[in-house]
Amino acid sequence: MTSASGVLTSKQSQTATIQAHLDEAIEGLLASLPAPQQVSADQRRGIIARYSAVLEGNFIYWMTGAYLAVGTDEARAKIIENLREEVRDCHPGMMRRFALAAHAVPTEADAQAVYQNLMNVRLFIGKLSPVPIVITMAFFEGFIQRFMPYLAELAQRQGSAEMEYTDVHGVCDITHTQELFRALDAEIALANGSVASDEIFEGVTLLQNLIRNIVVND
Ligand SMILES: [Fe+2]
Repeated sequence: MTSASGVLTSKQSQTATIQAHLDEAIEGLLASLPAPQQVSADQRRGIIARYSAVLEGNFIYWMTGAYLAVGTDEARAKIIENLREEVRDCHPGMMRRFALAAHAVPTEADAQAVYQNLMNVRLFIGKLSPVPIVITMAFFEGFIQRFMPYLAELAQRQGSAEMEYTDVHGVCDITHTQELFRALDAEIALANGSVASDEIFEGVTLLQNLIRNIVVND
């Protein structure tokens, strides 16, 4: 995916390579999840609470950062579609109802547990680097979709039947994913080789650390 000079250049195949890297990162995270039946009630509550502490107040903000960062119509159209759905259907409210019904509303200690890793992702988003930010959001969306059955099972074990959040976010939309990677293609073409290879997965790495921190509070 990188040229001899170590910069990302504009070729369709690079998007496929990036997608493969993201799929691998997602599989790795899913494989590291403890089996729901082996998770204690306290850990179960903690995972849902830390996930909510991160998602409820940050997802729209990060997507907005992506919108401000990108420079192509393809990417803007894709991000706007996502933001419209988030706001119109009040996804933060959906997230809150999910946590409430699972008796897992984030406490001060839950917010503190993810503080540093969350801050790292926030600062990355603030750099407004178009290609790395679109890659990061593609990774996050892909992960969330695959994580929903697990999160739903934890909530069920908490005695909850409120599954709107996990139902809405667990849908595998192939057209949406294709459009997202076409938007990435357009942003790579616009960057025209100006993205250093050590920068393209910076946000993905920070987000992986944050997700591990959500699952295991250490
Ligand atoms: Fe959402």
